[in-house]
Amino acid sequence: MTDAKLIDGTVFSGKLRETIASRVAEMKGKHRITPGLAVVLVGEDPASQVYVRTKGKRTVETGMNSFEHKLPADTPEDSLLLLIDSLNKDPAVHGILVQLPVPKHIDTQKVIEAIDPAKDVDGFHPVNVGRLAAGMDALVPCTPLGSLLLLKDNLGKLGGLDAVVIGRSNIVGKPMAQLLIRESCTVTIAHSQTRDLPSVVRRADIVIAAVGRPEMIKGDWIKPGATVIDVGINRIDLPDGKTRLVGDVDFASAVKVAGAITPVPGGVGPMTIACLLRNTLVACARQHN
Ligand code: GUN
Repeated sequence: MTDAKLIDGTVFSGKLRETIASRVAEMKGKHRITPGLAVVLVGEDPASQVYVRTKGKRTVETGMNSFEHKLPADTPEDSLLLLIDSLNKDPAVHGILVQLPVPKHIDTQKVIEAIDPAKDVDGFHPVNVGRLAAGMDALVPCTPLGSLLLLKDNLGKLGGLDAVVIGRSNIVGKPMAQLLIRESCTVTIAHSQTRDLPSVVRRADIVIAAVGRPEMIKGDWIKPGATVIDVGINRIDLPDGKTRLVGDVDFASAVKVAGAITPVPGGVGPMTIACLLRNTLVACARQHN
């Protein structure tokens, strides 16, 4: 059997960002409005710093305003909440993202709930979570949204397909399941207590791996021809002291069985930022209609 088709998230996200850039240009020309995204980083986590820098760069490339707020790790919760309040009120800011995780002395849920749902480009506020679950217009979390765009680009209509989502986080697993339900898939959510995970995965036409365990999902768990979306980004240490990025899927064995599969890196990763920009544009348009 031939190897699976590689789903190229770098190419797809590049095209998506170009489309967004032309809509931003139109908005600036016709309506004199520049969409603005505020990103807040508390502390100095190196991975978070890389993400925030890349987000800022992509935001500006798309023609939007980027507002970065870097706060020290010992910032009191109250100060962060005050900053969010001022961003909520700032008419130049259409989207607000607080990079997670925040330091332990800050209550994540309080932070999420402090953001105006209309500016909640992460889609984490309970109002947006509820709107998505109720089938209403909502700001949708970026990683599941990016995964869905890749799926639809590869498979067209998803109605009736069996989908297994492995992982039940608020950021990926649960919203992913909601999006697949909305597309009329038959959805199973598997997690750490699922019995006989290999046989659950083997039923699926669509496998979404979002567990955060390096190379856990093996090729012989996958139904021949299935579409595999690997959301995992795990840094593993190699014997020579170097590190390597791997997904939650054992790519070498899965690529022999799947019909199509996302690589890591270069699959879902770049889609997340593109969808963040898309959400910022959508939030801006809704705030000005
Ligand atoms: N940290 C890792 N992924 C995300 C994300 O999608 N949004 C935010 N705010 N923080 C993250």
